[in-house]
Amino acid sequence: MKGIILAGGYGTRLYPITKSISKNILPIYDKPTVYYTISILMLAGIKDMLIISTPYDILSYQRLLGDGSQLGIHFVYKIQKSPRGLADAFIVGEDFIGNDSVALILGDNIIYGEAFPSILCEAAGLKEGATIFGYYVDNPIAYGVVEFDKYGNAISLEEKPKIPKSNYAVPGLYFYDNKVIKIAKNVKPSARGEIEITEVNKAYLELGQLQVKILSDNILWIDTGTYDSLLDASSLIRSIQKEKSSCIGAVEQIAYEKGYINKKQLLDLAESMSKSGYGAYLKSIAERG
Ligand code: DAU
Repeated sequence: MKGIILAGGYGTRLYPITKSISKNILPIYDKPTVYYTISILMLAGIKDMLIISTPYDILSYQRLLGDGSQLGIHFVYKIQKSPRGLADAFIVGEDFIGNDSVALILGDNIIYGEAFPSILCEAAGLKEGATIFGYYVDNPIAYGVVEFDKYGNAISLEEKPKIPKSNYAVPGLYFYDNKVIKIAKNVKPSARGEIEITEVNKAYLELGQLQVKILSDNILWIDTGTYDSLLDASSLIRSIQKEKSSCIGAVEQIAYEKGYINKKQLLDLAESMSKSGYGAYLKSIAERG
């Protein structure tokens, strides 16, 4: 399975912060937001990733992440000329996806929980159809919303409904088989002029090939799209990390624990950031075992 990180858009909801910097380069406590999204794809076992961003911001991602070889994985980059909608990821990424299945993660979504890696591996094992998630929220109107019948089967999906049929929002992490390219190409722009990911999910629902897994409340999901959620995410990550004495979204550590890089490579990465607490943390991981 391949992975796409959608890290474009104008970030206008965070202006003036994002006037000259991409939203997903902004820090969530001690690391750029995009680290958390990359870590999710790595935990799903995905090693080939496409990072999509704007013509102005793509260089920042390349500077930050390179070709991925330092992590034993592979990054490629593509420009989305204008933010046409989330489903455009599969059109921009068509050549990259090739004949594979694909996971899409929105660059501003953070998901964390001890039970989450096993959920991710199961979703990444998808052979046919699509797997998305449902997460209970108090303000569903800001999201894609999924409705279930009394047996827990998904029966409808709506993008930012004025009157939501449930409190289950769909987080920005999606797993699809290869049909997604064709489905995305057939999506018509919505009233706000975007080709919506919710339309892609509806197409799978109509085919009877959509699985919606509920993420329980011991899993944390944050869409970092507002001033408050940015600050909340930083505070939460900081307190979880302090409490557990470990790092969330530490891509170098995940690469090491998955055996993609060896101890020497991890120590070299730590050394290149030796003046920061993050570098010191990576060094302690390498020296531990
Ligand atoms: O966060 C989950 C929600 O994400 C879902 O529940 C919704 O169904 C889904 O539509 C999406 O809603 P948002 O309103 O949060 O999406 P937004 O326009 O903020 O875009 C999400 C990220 O993707 C953001 O970092 C910018 C980037 N983006 C967006 C568009 C439309 C792109 O890179 N290209 C695009 O064309």
